[in-house]
Amino acid sequence: MTLKDIITGIKFIIKSKRKPPCINITLTDDYSEQSGKSEKPSLKEAASSRNLFIGATVSYNATEEELALATGHFNSVTAENLHKWPHLLKERQGDPLDYDFSRADKVTDWAVKNGMRMRGHTLVWSKMNHTHPKALNRMVSESENPGKMMTGILEKHINRVMGHFKGRITQWDVVNEVFRYGGEGIDGIFMDVLGEKYIDDVFHMAHKADPGAELVINETIGSYRGGKAVEFLDFVKGMLDRGVPVHGIGIQEHNNVKGLDDLAWFIKEVEKTGLFLEITEMDMRANFFRKEPDKYQAQAEALYQRIKTAVDSKCCRGITFWGLHDGNTWMDRIAGPRSHAPNEPQLFDGNLKKKPAYYGVLRAIEEAAER
Ligand code: G3I
Repeated sequence: MTLKDIITGIKFIIKSKRKPPCINITLTDDYSEQSGKSEKPSLKEAASSRNLFIGATVSYNATEEELALATGHFNSVTAENLHKWPHLLKERQGDPLDYDFSRADKVTDWAVKNGMRMRGHTLVWSKMNHTHPKALNRMVSESENPGKMMTGILEKHINRVMGHFKGRITQWDVVNEVFRYGGEGIDGIFMDVLGEKYIDDVFHMAHKADPGAELVINETIGSYRGGKAVEFLDFVKGMLDRGVPVHGIGIQEHNNVKGLDDLAWFIKEVEKTGLFLEITEMDMRANFFRKEPDKYQAQAEALYQRIKTAVDSKCCRGITFWGLHDGNTWMDRIAGPRSHAPNEPQLFDGNLKKKPAYYGVLRAIEEAAER
């Protein structure tokens, strides 16, 4: 760390003590929009005109209404689960190279037909034992040469999946959440068997499988101050020094409300690498703001601040919300965040109506420069 880095760090600490200004998000109600009197562009139009991606996730069982909501407001989409390795298999517990692409194809084709960019999430992910095919555990313990076996499987998987979606999926999270949740090192079955070199290797494999695809390293950083943020950036810089074909950084923003200055610092660091940045998974639960006079307004303001901080840098090319509306969110389904249900982290409520959050995001995007 240089003296300049230390001074920059101190400046950020001082700045972060200041309270961000309160922005009053101007609302346009759904009624005036439906009656055609609104002059506001849609989120999708505002983003597209600035060459930005604004995205949401869809699931396999999305209703017609939900699909229409997605195509109406977003120019990018991620399948919440369908492109994950276990979900692409005929049997989730079965042969890790025996695929059934029919469900993923259905959603991918729908996105392409509607002129949306489809992000591929994710080729290689090993956390909590259910994000990689379970059969790999047994195969490792039974193999005489687990390293060779695992490298072979990874290569076949990446070739098969990227080959299958070539031309339809233009950006892939090659790896997801490789660092321990709290930072300090890499975990997961691929790390255990192959060491951290597997990360370089899978990027090379992915580039070979589809040289036209954008390859992203996707991570949940949490706080962008020191610790994991620095560890992550150093690792990515190392990849670039080693000539690894990584093109972009994906950051997850699940419920990050604090540390705008830290986020700004992190993005400046990304800028220096020359890589692009996308917020690949964003949500912000409304009841964080339950003590505010209007929690939805406060949620809108917080989203405005965060997205503005991101799009102020031209290296930020897109923001994807991890969900589509408050009526169907992973946060209300999964242990942990479920204890706060209803979390209401999205831009549309359970009746698919725009919330103030929608206008907060729209405003941040309208203020962004074209890239
Ligand atoms: O579809 C099956 C269903 O057939 C079965 O009956 C049911 C029984 O458990 O499981 C269903 O699959 C679940 C799937 O969500 C769809 O609801 C999986 O068990 C469950 O593990 C899966 O959770 C997903 C989780 O990632 C793990 O893959 C969440 O929906 C998804 O929102 C979440 O997304 C992650 C990102 O990929 C990475 N970053 C964090 C983010 C939030 O946790």
